[in-house]
Amino acid sequence: MKAQINQREVEYRIEGETGPQQAQVLLADAVDLTAGTAWAAQGYTVAPFLSADEQRQLQQGLEALVREALANAGRPVAPDFPVNQYHQIVGDDRDLHLAVINQTKEYRQEHLPVLAALLEARVSELCGRPVRALNPWDGERFFHLRIVRPNRADNNPLHRDVWLPDYRDCLNIYVPVTGSTPDSSLTLVPGSHWWPENRTERTRGGAVYNGVSFTVPAVTGAAEPLEIIRPNPGPEEVLLFSPYLLHGGAVNLNPDETRISLEMRFWAV
Ligand SMILES: [Fe+2]
Repeated sequence: MKAQINQREVEYRIEGETGPQQAQVLLADAVDLTAGTAWAAQGYTVAPFLSADEQRQLQQGLEALVREALANAGRPVAPDFPVNQYHQIVGDDRDLHLAVINQTKEYRQEHLPVLAALLEARVSELCGRPVRALNPWDGERFFHLRIVRPNRADNNPLHRDVWLPDYRDCLNIYVPVTGSTPDSSLTLVPGSHWWPENRTERTRGGAVYNGVSFTVPAVTGAAEPLEIIRPNPGPEEVLLFSPYLLHGGAVNLNPDETRISLEMRFWAV
């Protein structure tokens, strides 16, 4: 399928069996944590996040986790190694990259460099109701680091989180750690959280995207062209978005910077 991000054409090749979709709107039967906000129709907002000190502590601590993961994978780096140069260390070494992302894709929140309660308080403020980073479906408290090397198929294909189990009813955040730019940050389709399932085609199960297997199903096509944008939060900001939005497919078009970001999900108390 042809896809454009910010009017620029990108490669988007999905393999996987597709099936007919229904006219059902998934969010209509779920908790909509965007409801009542000024950004409910768009399904996302970009806003200032923590205090400057807390945000720095968060970003620097997360960068240290990436260096630790590289060391655990057998490729130690200096304590001041700039992790946006991750691709220079890892290159096209698939085993090394997998050894790193198997550690960074999911952490328990006790490893978060600031108290999760700080993030919970700010996200509660932004959505106008109390939320916490505790998944009621599996009782877990996780956060995730996304590491996307420039011009490699490291990013998820276009999807809704709720096509996987355990992600109903929540809100998601994207916080830039390093290398997050207008050419690399998370992509999404504004307003698509209210689209019926049959407005897009998707794979039944996990998709193969630009040759790489993912657990999440992926969009394979749409009747109308998809308007995919990058809201691109700045270093002091957060992108708060409904996981019912179509998002992902955020190929990193930076010439020479790996993009690293924090993802964490919140549910109503
Ligand atoms: Fe997602």
